[in-house]
Amino acid sequence: MKKSNSLAVVGAQWGDEGKGKVIDYLASVADVVARFQGGNNAGHTVVYGANIFKLHHVPSGILNAGTLCLLGNGMVVDPLVLVEELAELQKRGIDTSNLRISGKAHLNMAYHKDLDEANEKLLGEKKIGTTGRGIGPAYADKIMRRGIRAIDMTAYERFRERLAGILPLQNRFLKEIYDHAGYDLDELAELYRPALEKLGPMVADSSQLLVENLNGGKKVLFEGAQGALLDIDHGTYPYVTSSSTVAAAAATGNGIGPQHISQALGVIKAYTTRVGEGPFPTEDHTEAGDQLRERGNEYGTTTGRPRRCGWFDGVIARYAAMVNGLTGLAVTKLDVLSGMDEVNMAVSYRCGEEVINNFPLSIEELKECEPVYRSFPGWDEDISRARRLEDLPAAARNFLDAIEESVGIKIELVSVGPDRSQTIICKGSNLESWIASGQQKKS
Ligand code: IMP
Repeated sequence: MKKSNSLAVVGAQWGDEGKGKVIDYLASVADVVARFQGGNNAGHTVVYGANIFKLHHVPSGILNAGTLCLLGNGMVVDPLVLVEELAELQKRGIDTSNLRISGKAHLNMAYHKDLDEANEKLLGEKKIGTTGRGIGPAYADKIMRRGIRAIDMTAYERFRERLAGILPLQNRFLKEIYDHAGYDLDELAELYRPALEKLGPMVADSSQLLVENLNGGKKVLFEGAQGALLDIDHGTYPYVTSSSTVAAAAATGNGIGPQHISQALGVIKAYTTRVGEGPFPTEDHTEAGDQLRERGNEYGTTTGRPRRCGWFDGVIARYAAMVNGLTGLAVTKLDVLSGMDEVNMAVSYRCGEEVINNFPLSIEELKECEPVYRSFPGWDEDISRARRLEDLPAAARNFLDAIEESVGIKIELVSVGPDRSQTIICKGSNLESWIASGQQKKS
């Protein structure tokens, strides 16, 4: 069998690693970009020249004319939000005709958002800190076998019938537990009608499309959202999102076999951030944490929330490499560290008397862990114009070497600024070969 020419790009921290920028860069040479999990909880900021695009459902590949973009079966899609997102892209001259939605993707409905918000309120201090987009309730309905799928958008009567089946139950939850007025079936179905008309024609058997492209030797990019530490199984449960964010989910979330995932690139910031609640061992409450937030503009794309900031954590990076089977690393926002007197990296955790190198199994133990730091001299140079590793000051290269050593995975890409051009592809890396294979497409 011919080997697939694919690459999965996944987050290796708590999301917001700069995947949008990396994926946008790589999408310029890809034939297909496919998302496989999550929904509009994701927020990718892509800077291209003077243009800033904030994408939530739509893969970054949409900015490249001719790239097929897929929303896989593992996603939950909010039809109302997706229609707005497409309208915004079209208004700015972007062709969106190459987007297809898997008929098996689930719909994230208005009541899911209400249930998400109400549930968070009920949890009070124990809240997850969700994005409030309805993600958890939408996935819960999928698993409870009472969701509405994208294929149901292709026939209004069928959509209405599905809604009629689920709404009485959702209204009971909303009214009796959450003190919400609930929804009227006719009004709600009508609210969705225009979105169904727009999105229905985009519904397809995306797994069939993908396999045809993979077997035809096309370059396929799997676009991950969130990050390994937010994975429903492998993250800091329950402070996680409700989908599988790891590379293997690119197979289940797109309806293809695992042999089609040839490489897994883990995107990792040169420091660490987190939004929402939950343990974060290297979180820095001193001036250094504030500096990282301000220099790195660490405010959520989706919710605008200030992100919690701290130093690079080698323990979580090693763990993310393991649960994803990473084949390479993309280190982003290295430029944000310029001008810091010293930079730190957690190499292990101290848990009571013990020093541990592996990520703990329980979050109770994780909460007790103190990072053991290794300090490195900082650098003052502006590195935003570096285009080769050799252009970086020795101190920055030294820090990158320490990341590689700590994670045990080769760095294949370094990002030194938000623009597409501010990217270093490491010489001799698998990623360099992946980019070079096939023709560079015009973007
Ligand atoms: P949910 O995905 O909205 O249910 O939120 C669950 C957790 O995942 C919360 O801590 C969110 O802040 C976090 N989360 C969800 N999406 C993202 C993202 O795209 N970036 C960073 N954190 C996210």
